Amino acid sequence: MMKNVFITGATGFLGGELLIDLSKRPEVGKIYCLVRAGSREKAIQRLKKVFDFHNDHFDPSRIIPVQGDLAQDNLTASLAENKLLEDVHYIVHSAANTSFSPIYDKMVEDINIHGLEKILKWSQSLKSLETFVYVGTATICGKQLKNRTVLETESPNLNAEHLVKYTYTKMQGEVQLKKYLPEDKILIVRPSIILGDSRPWTPRSYVIMWTLACMNFLRLIPANANTLLDMVPVDYVSGAIMKIMFSKRKHNVYHVSAGENGSTTPAQLAITIEAAFPDSPKFNFVGREMVRDVKMWARKRLNEDSPLHKHPEYLDYWKGIMEDTGELRVLMGGLDPYIEFMELGQVFDNTRMLSEDFGIQQSPPAHEYIKNSIHLLENIDIFEAALEP
Ligand SMILES: NC(=O)c1ccc[n+]([C@@H]2O[C@H](COP(=O)([O-])OP(=O)(O)OC[C@H]3O[C@@H](n4cnc5c(N)ncnc54)[C@H](OP(=O)(O)O)[C@@H]3O)[C@@H](O)[C@H]2O)c1
Repeated sequence: MMKNVFITGATGFLGGELLIDLSKRPEVGKIYCLVRAGSREKAIQRLKKVFDFHNDHFDPSRIIPVQGDLAQDNLTASLAENKLLEDVHYIVHSAANTSFSPIYDKMVEDINIHGLEKILKWSQSLKSLETFVYVGTATICGKQLKNRTVLETESPNLNAEHLVKYTYTKMQGEVQLKKYLPEDKILIVRPSIILGDSRPWTPRSYVIMWTLACMNFLRLIPANANTLLDMVPVDYVSGAIMKIMFSKRKHNVYHVSAGENGSTTPAQLAITIEAAFPDSPKFNFVGREMVRDVKMWARKRLNEDSPLHKHPEYLDYWKGIMEDTGELRVLMGGLDPYIEFMELGQVFDNTRMLSEDFGIQQSPPAHEYIKNSIHLLENIDIFEAALEP
């Protein structure tokens, strides 16, 4: 029997890949997509764009928009009243507000916790529901776990301390799931950090990839060169989620990550960037303790005894590539939370996913796969990205 899927977040970075991959699965029938749009036509246009992006065929008889917003009060009722949705077998919840900026904290909480609850309340009444796939994040483990491999079983931990509201809300999301649905209907997939695409084309989103563009721009980096970074490409994550979702499983929580064998480091990423952009100065990593000094330099208030003065060639280089040092303040404002995350050195154990009979291969490390699209760093507007971290 064909399985019908309801997906949220299909217009997003990962959700778009999930939608395309779902549309190729022989066992999948209709795919209902929750989309924010002012009209049905606009919703169709937004979904068609996802298919156009990869020159893929959009079949309106199979890909069906459901207009709605996770912030909407009557969302549960409107989904329950929608007769089309009575035979949904899978729900894939990928929508989230992924902002790291504290100015969006309330919205992040509203969407990622209360929005999820609205979907969960509806899902409870769905007789046909087999599996609720919650796209979580491995970073819910919190900031106390440093420089080591993290297991699936270590989260959700209600005592975890979070660097940003976003990871807290994603952790709470997992807690909510268990309140509404029995364990055997829950599948939690926790990607690590999704960086770009392993295929030689423009990824749907430059989120995270813009931090590499910032590295390429600055060349003197206030971060540790050798911290382990667990990064995976979006196509790998989507492919792995498909395999986990449609296979017999031993567990209901899986990291979708690079793990110990596939993680990278800022130094290794720098080698890949340098090879593609050899005309800029060599990379130099000066440690996270220098973030403050870089910010002070950008404010023209750097102390005379700052160790940053030991790098005059980079300070001259910065003066040459920026119209105003204020530009560096903008960049550092956006980069700061990412550097904090990077410096945690968390690697997410992927042996669960790799050792089961899913047919999932180890992801190549980011410094390898990103070579396919490294030239795209030039196209990224780093200043705009830094304003919306
Ligand atoms: N990117 C990563 O590195 C990463 C890592 C681990 C886990 N994840 C998880 O993966 C999932 C997808 O992330 P992503 O990077 O693909 O994010 P994204 O590109 O920002 O996409 C977010 C999606 O959620 C939708 N959405 C946001 N607010 C909504 C609302 N109020 N009502 C309905 N839909 C709403 C967006 O719709 P619009 O198009 O209308 O804005 C978009 O389709 C998230 O659950 C995230 O937590 C991401």
